[in-house]
Amino acid sequence: MRKPFIVANWKMHKNVEQSVAFLHKVLDRLPNSDHVDIGIAPQSFATYPMIEITQHTNLQIISQNAATKYDGAYTGEISVKDLKDMGINYVMLGHSERRRFFHESNQIVNQKVLAAANIGVTPIVCTNEDEESIVVNNKRYYILRQLHNVLQGLSIEQLQKVILSFEPTSSIGEGHEMNLQLAERGCQLLRQQIRLFYGNDVANKIRILYGGSVNPDNIAQVMDQPDVDGVLIGRASLDPEKFVQMANYQNNYALALQN
Ligand code: PGA
Repeated sequence: MRKPFIVANWKMHKNVEQSVAFLHKVLDRLPNSDHVDIGIAPQSFATYPMIEITQHTNLQIISQNAATKYDGAYTGEISVKDLKDMGINYVMLGHSERRRFFHESNQIVNQKVLAAANIGVTPIVCTNEDEESIVVNNKRYYILRQLHNVLQGLSIEQLQKVILSFEPTSSIGEGHEMNLQLAERGCQLLRQQIRLFYGNDVANKIRILYGGSVNPDNIAQVMDQPDVDGVLIGRASLDPEKFVQMANYQNNYALALQN
């Protein structure tokens, strides 16, 4: 049984004061970590105060990015080695916005994935679409070419710990909607590819998240899909009330079924 993982991706929102205030509003309303992992990826400067506040809690503070190198003359970069020293266990890599606006190639994402995995920080590796296509509801979607390129060089042991995410560009951000069938189909295809190339054990263990227009109204449905093990949430995660609702989706869902 794969443990669900609910990840808030705050992108370039919330200053330090707002990030800390958010934590104080939600911390004692999050579920027990035996059943679900919960994480927030704030802006880089907010990670430090947030790590200090969440030290003895179940909430994971996640980095939105990291460099390919551990240290040196790389102005503006974030060292995954120093993230680890600070107590950060997860780093998001290869988000579609990093690829689109900052021209991160599969090769660069792969170097970052290796740097993180080799030092013991779990990469949350984002994939979206750039070649193969599938048809869902008579519409063609492009997905998945990135997978093998970004995972190259990882050992089987490292692969089992990696977290993947499928984020179709057509569903991310303002003006878009989640497509439930596409969400499951994309995550299922990722798992099939993993099975084909790395075997059953890795495919059964690896957690695959879906990202794109997840909100309190649709989270239970998407989490119910067999190949979706978690979600990456942008806009809806900025609101503390919505975040608490989504983090507790299992309880809320059970209550809704009872009524
Ligand atoms: P969204 O963003 O939830 O605002 O669509 C998701 C993401 O980019 O991770």
